[in-house]
Amino acid sequence: MAAAAEEQRKRVLVVGGSGYLGQHLLAALASAAHRLVLDVAFTHHSQAPPLPLLQALPSARAFRADLRSGEGFDAISPSFGQPHVVVNCAAISVPRACEADPTAAMATNVPSSLVDWLLSFGNDDSLLIHLSTDQVYEGVKSFYKEEDETVPVNMYGKSKVAAEKFIVQKCSNYAILRSSIIYGPQTISPVPKSLPIQWMDSVLSQGQQVEFFNDEFRCPVYVKDVVAVILSLAKSWLSDGKKVQVLLNVGGPDRVSRLQMAESVADVRGYNHSIIKSVPASSVNRGVASPSDISMDITKLTQLLNIKPISFQDGVRATLDAEANS
Ligand SMILES: NC(=O)c1ccc[n+]([C@@H]2O[C@H](COP(=O)([O-])OP(=O)(O)OC[C@H]3O[C@@H](n4cnc5c(N)ncnc54)[C@H](OP(=O)(O)O)[C@@H]3O)[C@@H](O)[C@H]2O)c1
Ligand SMILES: *[C@@H]1O[C@H](CO)[C@@H](O)[C@H](O)[C@H]1NC(C)=O
Repeated sequence: MAAAAEEQRKRVLVVGGSGYLGQHLLAALASAAHRLVLDVAFTHHSQAPPLPLLQALPSARAFRADLRSGEGFDAISPSFGQPHVVVNCAAISVPRACEADPTAAMATNVPSSLVDWLLSFGNDDSLLIHLSTDQVYEGVKSFYKEEDETVPVNMYGKSKVAAEKFIVQKCSNYAILRSSIIYGPQTISPVPKSLPIQWMDSVLSQGQQVEFFNDEFRCPVYVKDVVAVILSLAKSWLSDGKKVQVLLNVGGPDRVSRLQMAESVADVRGYNHSIIKSVPASSVNRGVASPSDISMDITKLTQLLNIKPISFQDGVRATLDAEANS
C-alpha cells in the first residue's frame, strides 16, 4: 500500500526557482501539490536559496545547481529522484548582461548540462518545459507565428535560439515557450531586477515628465497566465503520458508599445497623461540592440491549451492591486 502510494507521487523540478517566474510557479505548484499528489523541488544558483521562499513553501526541496558547469544536478536524483517534469526558468535573462558576456550567456542559456542529466536516466520519463523568448524574432513585422524565421538581433536572442535548437535536437519530450515580457506582482522573496509595471508606476508617481518608446511593440503576458500554461502542459503529461514536441508563443492578447504600457499604468493610477512623453527608441542608446516589433500571434496557444491570457489593462490592474495589498 505504502509503496503503491509512493509510486503515484509525481515529481516536479523547477530549475531557476529563485527567479521571478520560478517563484510564482513554485507558489502555484505548492498550492496544487496536495490535490495533484506532487513533490516539488527547485534549484537556485546563488550560494543560499532565498529564505522567505523557503519559509513560505516549506515542503519544496531546494538544491544548488549551476547550468554553466552542470555542478549540482547529479546530487538531485539520489534524494529527490528522477523528476517527471522539469521546468527550466533559469537563464541570464537581462539582454544587456548577455551582450556584456556572450560566453556566459551561451553557457548558461543553452541548458546542455541539464539536458545531459535528463538523458542520463536513459528513458523518456521526464517532460522538459523550457522558457524561451520573443526576442528570437527579428522585430520587423507584427504578430509573429511560431513557424516564422528566427533572426535574433542581440546575444540574449542568439543564446535562446541556440537553446531551442539544442533541445529540439536532443530531446523527445519537450515544450518550448517563447514568452513575451512577463509582468505581475512581486515575488515571495523580492527579485533584484526591476519589474516593468512597478517601475513605470514608480517613475510616473514622481509627477515629472518621463519618456517612453512609441515604436517598440510587445505582447506582455501576465505572470499567472504563464504559470497556467506551464501547469496545463505538466498536467497533460502527468495524466496521459503522451510525449510532446511543441513550440508555443506565449504572450498576452494585446500588442502594445512601451508608451501604451505607461498609459495603461497612468489610467489605472489616475496619473495625468501629460507626464508621459512619446519618443522613438532610436533616441536612447541602451547598449544592446532591441527588436522593434516582436508582437506575437498566440492562436496556437489558445487552441492547443484552451487558455486565454488576460488583457494588458486587466493585468496592470491586478498587478497594482496586488502591490497595494502587500
Ligand atoms: N521576465 C521576463 O519578462 C521574461 C520574458 C521572456 C522570457 N523570459 C525567460 O523566462 C525565464 C524566467 O525568467 P525570469 O524573469 O524569472 O528570470 P530571473 O528572475 O532572472 O531568474 C533567473 C534564474 O536563473 C538562475 N540562474 C542564473 N544563472 C544561473 C546558472 N549559471 N545556473 C543555474 N541557475 C542560474 C537564477 O538563480 P539565482 O536566483 O540563485 O541567481 C534564477 O533562479 C528565463 O529563461 C527568461 O529568459 C523572461
Ligand atoms: C494634466 O496636466 C495638464 C498640463 O499640466 C493640464 O493642463 C491638465 O488640466 C491636466 N489634466 C487633468 C485631468 O488634471
